[in-house]
Amino acid sequence: MSAAVGLGKKTLRDLDIKPGDTVLMRVDFNVPLKDGKVADDARIRAALPAIEALREKGAKIILCSHLGRPKGADPSTSLEPASERLGELLGTRVFQAPEVVGPEVRRGVARLDDGEILVLENTRWEPGETKNDPQLARDLADLADFFVSDAFGSVHRAHASTAGVADLLPAAAGPLLEREVTTLRAVVEAPDRPLVVVLGGAKVSDKIALIDRFLDIADSLLIGGAMCFSFFRAQGIPTGDSLVEEAGIELARKALEKAEQSGCELLLPVDLVIADRFDAAAERREIDGAEVPDGWMGLDVGPRTVEQYAERVRTAGTVFWNGPMGAFEMEPFAAGTRGVAEAVAAASGTTIVGGGDSAAALAQFGLADRVTHLSTGGGAALELLEGKELPGVEALDDA
Ligand code: 3PG
Repeated sequence: MSAAVGLGKKTLRDLDIKPGDTVLMRVDFNVPLKDGKVADDARIRAALPAIEALREKGAKIILCSHLGRPKGADPSTSLEPASERLGELLGTRVFQAPEVVGPEVRRGVARLDDGEILVLENTRWEPGETKNDPQLARDLADLADFFVSDAFGSVHRAHASTAGVADLLPAAAGPLLEREVTTLRAVVEAPDRPLVVVLGGAKVSDKIALIDRFLDIADSLLIGGAMCFSFFRAQGIPTGDSLVEEAGIELARKALEKAEQSGCELLLPVDLVIADRFDAAAERREIDGAEVPDGWMGLDVGPRTVEQYAERVRTAGTVFWNGPMGAFEMEPFAAGTRGVAEAVAAASGTTIVGGGDSAAALAQFGLADRVTHLSTGGGAALELLEGKELPGVEALDDA
């Protein structure tokens, strides 16, 4: 990136943590589970540098996180599998509390030796969490001497464990949060040019704020995924049986209008892969242009589009990619997303990939370690890039 973009907040390095001090750290262990085990431990691995730093300081470590969106104490959303995985990764015993706050937690904290780790239960088991309830924030703060947030994926939530508690303790950012925020801010504030943005996914409405912002900032905006059908409909192009977000058509029309006035080129697919149904075994055809016949649906971008998009990515100073180009989870419709992923992986500029489906796609193609920065945040990354305030960052102590 062409200029250093700061966090403006205290970091773990600024806290005077001494052996025996207790540190409450918010992490984002909202990980997928399968058969009671962690199915993807990327978010747990991403928190290891912060945990190691606290262990080196001899702190007693309390970790807290949400997992899923439970209504109450639902055992299927327990943090236990995440604690177990953390223990395996660290090669040490990690204690799991049976509740978020309460007498058992206080007893568990009192029993911790320096460098030991206690994981609280899913913060969303407490009804006060998502309401940013001051009493829950106080109960959490009473457990510790310091608060560290390393939960980038959750900082767009103004919850008791992400924001409320930070007002009650000396509060700083962990290394993951610091890296995520400064890297992503640099995309919009100080990108090396050309800045090329590739956006995919199903819905224009999910991405419109980002499209709007990047039409002001980027040099090229490349659109793929089912959301391109809202753009085609806005241009009067037939979309057959493709998935079209009706509410997105008007948004797409406005974006096309804005693109005419802006210095950013907006590219849509020039060819498509279509199928007679949403099925890996469906009949499949490649078509030139974007007109999808009745009885057919677009499920991927075509090879000419991939070539055009890959060329922009290759010559970019900065690439930001979020959202798949097609139904990549079905092999016959994965080529568009694979082509973009390979171009991003091979690009010589700075490459930044937003979390969620794009991260899953990179992992599927074995390219996850070939980008400059793979964000652990989905919604948080998008809100940051849209220019929204992040309550979990704002609540930390100013630098
Ligand atoms: C995420 O997975 O994007 C974060 O953990 C936030 O989860 P939430 O959308 O349930 O708040």
